[in-house]
Amino acid sequence: MTSSQVISAEAKQVLITNDRGGYTVPTEGLYPYQWNWDSAVAALGFAQFDVDRAWVEIETLFQGQWDDGMVPHILFHKSDPGYFPGPDVWGCLGPIPSSGIIQPPIAATMARLIWAQDEEAGRARIAALYPKMLKWHSWIMRWRLHRGAVCTTHPWETGRDNAPDWDNTMQRMDASDVGEYTRRDTQHVDSADRPTKFDYDRYVKLVQIGRRLKWDQAAMLAESPFRVADPTMTFTTLRAARDLRTVGQALGADTAILEADIKRLEAGAATLWNPALGSYDSRDVLSGEWAGCVSNASYLCWFAGVENKDMLARLRAVMERVTYPVPSNDTGAESFDARRYWRGPTWAIVNMLIGMGLADMGHVDEANTLAKKTGDLIAEHGFAAYFDPFTGSAAGGGTFTWTAAVWLAWAGGN
Ligand code: GLC
Repeated sequence: MTSSQVISAEAKQVLITNDRGGYTVPTEGLYPYQWNWDSAVAALGFAQFDVDRAWVEIETLFQGQWDDGMVPHILFHKSDPGYFPGPDVWGCLGPIPSSGIIQPPIAATMARLIWAQDEEAGRARIAALYPKMLKWHSWIMRWRLHRGAVCTTHPWETGRDNAPDWDNTMQRMDASDVGEYTRRDTQHVDSADRPTKFDYDRYVKLVQIGRRLKWDQAAMLAESPFRVADPTMTFTTLRAARDLRTVGQALGADTAILEADIKRLEAGAATLWNPALGSYDSRDVLSGEWAGCVSNASYLCWFAGVENKDMLARLRAVMERVTYPVPSNDTGAESFDARRYWRGPTWAIVNMLIGMGLADMGHVDEANTLAKKTGDLIAEHGFAAYFDPFTGSAAGGGTFTWTAAVWLAWAGGN
C-alpha cells in the first residue's frame, strides 16, 4: 500500500470507530453526541466506502427535526455525563433530546453530493429527505434574516465558537448571574486550546435565555442580546438554497420559492462586505457594528456561488504566506492565537468547503493547492480537530470524524 492508501484505511477506521449506530460522534470523549454539520461531513466520508451508511447519517440527523422545521446543532441520543451543557440544561422540545440552536446548514449540499454518487438507488432517499431539508431551510429564511444575510443567535451556531467575530457583542453582554457550572471540555483537552471562561459564561448565559424563552424564535428576536449576521451562516444557507433548487428540479418539484430565496440571500451576502476591511465580515445587527474580522468563513463566498476578486487576491496571498492555510483568523490580527480554536488554527472542514467552492467557480489551481496542503497537514499531523497554521501541530486532541472524512472525500487525492 502507498502511504496515502494507509492513511485512507486509517481514516475509514476513524469513521467506523466513531460510529454509534446510525450516527457518528465527532470524537470519543470530548464530543459524545451527534453534531449537525459534523454529521453532514461524516456522511460524505462514509459515501466513499459505504453509501447506505452515508444516507443513514443524514436520515438520523433529520429524525431530530423539530415540528417547526429547526434541525438542532446537537442530538443527545444517549446521555453522557462527560459533556456540558447536556440535555437538562437546554430544556429541549424536539422528538430527540437536543440543543435549541442550529449549525451551518450544509446537510443539503452533502446530500446532493452523495446522491451524485448513488444516482439510481439514492433517488428515493433524497426524495424522502427533500421536504425535510426544505422545511429547515424555510425556518432559517423565516427567522434568521437581516437585510437578506443570515444571523446567528449563539456563537456555537456558526460552528466557529470563539471566533473574534463575536468579541464586541460578547463584551456588551452581562453574564454575572450565570451561576455555577462545571466545564467538561477542559477535562478532556488543554485549556490553552479552548475558549476562555469569559466566553464560556456568555455561551451558557445565552442557553439560559433561550431556555427561558422556550426557544420561541419571535421572543428571542425581541429579547436576545446576541444577533450577528455572519459569513458562515449566510454563505452556507445560500449554497443550500442552490443545492435544494437543483435537487428539487431533478425531482420535478416547483422551485420558485428557492429561486426567490437565492436572490434575497445573494443580496444579503453583499451586505457582509466590509469595504474598510476589504473582506466579508460579521455584522452585529443590534448595534450595526462590523466585527472587523477576516476569518476562514470570509472565504466561503465561492462555496455560495459568489465571485469576489479581492477575496481571491487575499486567498492567494494567504496561501503564499501561511504554511498550512486557511487560518481561522487573520494572522496579523491582534486577536490571532495560533492554537486557540477559532482564533487562528486551520480547520480541514472549512478548507474543504472553501476548496469545493473554488473548484465550482473555476479556480481549479487554488482548489488543488488547498486540497494538497490540507492533505499534507493531515498526513503529517493526523486527524486532529484543528492545527497550528504555521507549525501544523495538532490541537484540540482527539481523532476527529470530520477530519478523517475530509481526507476520504477531498484531501486524500483518492
Ligand atoms: C466545536 C466546533 C464545532 C463542531 C463541534 C463538534 O464546538 O467549534 O464547529 O461542530 O466542536 O466537532
